[in-house]
Amino acid sequence: MIRTDTASTRRTIVRKPGNVDIKPQRMGFEFGPSVPRYWLRQSYTLSHTMNALSVLFPQGEQFFVDSVRHFRDRITDEALKREVRGFIGQEAMHSLEHDAMNQHVKDQQMPIAELEANLEIILGLAKKLPKRHQLAITCGLEHLTAMMADMLLARDDVREDMDESMRPLWVWHAIEETEHKGVAFDVFQEVGGTYAERTFYLAFSTAMLGLVASYFTGRMMLNDWRNFSLQDGARGLWRMWGKNGSFSSLIPTWLDYFRPDFHPWQHDNSELIAHFKKQINAYIAPQYRQGNRKTLQ
Ligand SMILES: [Fe+2]
Ligand SMILES: [Fe+2]
Repeated sequence: MIRTDTASTRRTIVRKPGNVDIKPQRMGFEFGPSVPRYWLRQSYTLSHTMNALSVLFPQGEQFFVDSVRHFRDRITDEALKREVRGFIGQEAMHSLEHDAMNQHVKDQQMPIAELEANLEIILGLAKKLPKRHQLAITCGLEHLTAMMADMLLARDDVREDMDESMRPLWVWHAIEETEHKGVAFDVFQEVGGTYAERTFYLAFSTAMLGLVASYFTGRMMLNDWRNFSLQDGARGLWRMWGKNGSFSSLIPTWLDYFRPDFHPWQHDNSELIAHFKKQINAYIAPQYRQGNRKTLQ
């Protein structure tokens, strides 16, 4: 929905569609012995890659929350204030659910604690940047997560690669990342963030995420080196970066962010949310089915 176009800012302000609600929902996922070690396409390489990404979420999402929360008092728009509350609550829930998954991976003797300690140092450095630059990093990383979320919901082949014991976590996370994909961006615009800042920090955050995720994946693989195979590595890389790969297919969407009038909701994929939300509600643990609409502050 296009809200307004102000001559003073020369910015077209796009808001989320009215049928998208940003509300946190605790799911209570559990990951028992029935989850295969190589739960993604039965691939050692791909499963370690996604396990490494999951390690980034709890602390990374806390960074997102802190960077948005810092500017909360400067937001005057009531609708955006409500969206910020929803965003903070949703990211807090994601951290909890990914903590459960990370504990499961840790139980397989993976070096989760070491990687979390490394991440704390990296994010500690990012926290030394000016607050608006931290918010620009959040906007960039939220663009990356929204791209991956859209791909996961839109591509049956990508979801079918996931073992069904893991799929609900990732589908649920993708739904909520889509619901709140415009929030950090709208806050950034509201507090005077510039085109140069947001585009620089998209490039910067993409490079940093690439480095950190590759290093973390490498550490996971090294820890499990007995199951390494060149064939699995080559197939995994092709699946991610080859023709129509899960990541290579995202490059055009990544570039959209460099358009001066870019806004996350110019790509209205709210119908995907509606479609998957019905399915995912069946996975809410009984203790969270009622009354878990509390928004964390
Ligand atoms: Fe999230
Ligand atoms: Fe997010």
